[in-house]
Amino acid sequence: MTQAQIGVTGLAVMGANLARNLARHGHTVAVHNRSQSRTKTLVEEHGHEGSFVACETPEEFVAALERPRRVIVMVKAGAPTDAVIEEFAPLLEPGDMLVDGGNAHFLDTRRREAALRERGIHFVGAGVSGGEEGALLGPSIMPGGSKESYEALGPLLEDIAAKVDGVPCCTHIGPDGAGHFVKMVHNGIEYADMQLIAEAYDLLRQGLGLSPSQLADVFDEWNRGELSSYLIEITAEVLRQVDASTGKPLVDVIADRAEQKGTGRWTVQIALDLGVPVSGIAEAVFARSVSGHADLREAARGLPGPSGVPAGVLDESFVEDVRRALYASKIIAYAQGFDQIRAGSAEYGWEVDPGALATIWRGGCIIRAVFLDRIREAYESETPPVTLLTAPLFVEALGLAQDSWRRVVARAAEFGIPAPGFSTALAYYDSLRAERLPAALIQGQRDFFGAHTYQRTDREGSFHTLWSGDRSEIGG
Ligand SMILES: NC(=O)c1ccc[n+]([C@@H]2O[C@H](COP(=O)([O-])OP(=O)(O)OC[C@H]3O[C@@H](n4cnc5c(N)ncnc54)[C@H](OP(=O)(O)O)[C@@H]3O)[C@@H](O)[C@H]2O)c1
Repeated sequence: MTQAQIGVTGLAVMGANLARNLARHGHTVAVHNRSQSRTKTLVEEHGHEGSFVACETPEEFVAALERPRRVIVMVKAGAPTDAVIEEFAPLLEPGDMLVDGGNAHFLDTRRREAALRERGIHFVGAGVSGGEEGALLGPSIMPGGSKESYEALGPLLEDIAAKVDGVPCCTHIGPDGAGHFVKMVHNGIEYADMQLIAEAYDLLRQGLGLSPSQLADVFDEWNRGELSSYLIEITAEVLRQVDASTGKPLVDVIADRAEQKGTGRWTVQIALDLGVPVSGIAEAVFARSVSGHADLREAARGLPGPSGVPAGVLDESFVEDVRRALYASKIIAYAQGFDQIRAGSAEYGWEVDPGALATIWRGGCIIRAVFLDRIREAYESETPPVTLLTAPLFVEALGLAQDSWRRVVARAAEFGIPAPGFSTALAYYDSLRAERLPAALIQGQRDFFGAHTYQRTDREGSFHTLWSGDRSEIGG
């Protein structure tokens, strides 16, 4: 029997496309799926694209692989992944590699990695981004797991990953759950980016009365400059689409309830645990949640608000204002996401290289953008910034955006157009650059009702004011 270099089990859209991508790159790929029909369909429809070994059972699949075995699991995240691991692990030998390419929670990946390490098996949680098209034509791949496993897996994964300037969008991220952690934050950033783009659309649609097709032109134009990215590109495509059955712009007949699969929510939950303020991602998750609350929206419809956008108040210059506000807010969202990665890396001892991460996000993944090159440059400079906001290029962009950004947020509030992403980004920016924050007052309040103590600006130590006594201060 032909020995396969690698195997893929789980042949729904992602697994099938990854297997095809591997085969198209000249690798012999063993393929397996719980329901055999998927295996059959894949080989029947795409067998001519390369060398596949169709396997009906896990035993047959494992026997078809050269050693050490490389197995990619591409099944539904959660319990199905555990079920598949339990099925395959007893058939594997020490030194074999089991790669989970699904959207697993990184804490599950840590648990699975530790359990399989005891059995001598390398468990690699690999984030895979780019959707079904990416899986086939070149995704961005974020593998965690041991360095040793990357030596055996890296060449194959780099082979099938997207390339930017000849550089593969795949690198070893760090041990155990590091790969799935950065994939989670990638998705969180994606939520924030999409929310900001949606707000830009809404501001220009409601504020200037531009039609979806006019807005498609605006986004096309923006896609030629510093905002150039996959998400801006597809925004123009969606806005230009006309619904065949009604003749209306498709965006006007799509129900305005944004759904989510959970990675954005995980990002925020973990950020709360790590104490990292990812307000842009959080607002994006909440905005989707608000859109889905039909009951609340129904109850609140008709509540008083401003009278709308008076004619003549906004002119064409608002388009450039919104563009600059979008770019500035996007810088904030990415800076927050990279902060979370730094915090996660420190907490779990992963030593994630943010510059390498920005490099592999330049292509293949949903947030791919020219912008990621700027982030890479910032982290690879001689003095990497503490926060991306202070990288010289971004300082300049944020400076240029100042008036526009503030005007847009003010206009949004004035005219009653919700812009939580733009607003929170600006508030975060102003908070970080503030000389003093009202947190001092909060400490005073906490000390008043709970004797939680406070620190002083002029002396070391913890202090408490005897609020219900003579109000003298104790401590030091
Ligand atoms: N779709 C995307 O754009 C995308 C992007 C990045 C990552 N991902 C992740 O990639 C993974 C695969 O995604 P997908 O959309 O291709 O497929 P999916 O719909 O998430 O999962 C379907 C696959 O899981 C298998 N499966 C489910 N329960 C199983 C069990 N208990 N035992 C064995 N196999 C089981 C199914 O086998 P049967 O055919 O026998 O039912 C099928 O092969 C997921 O973790 C997903 O989150 C998806």
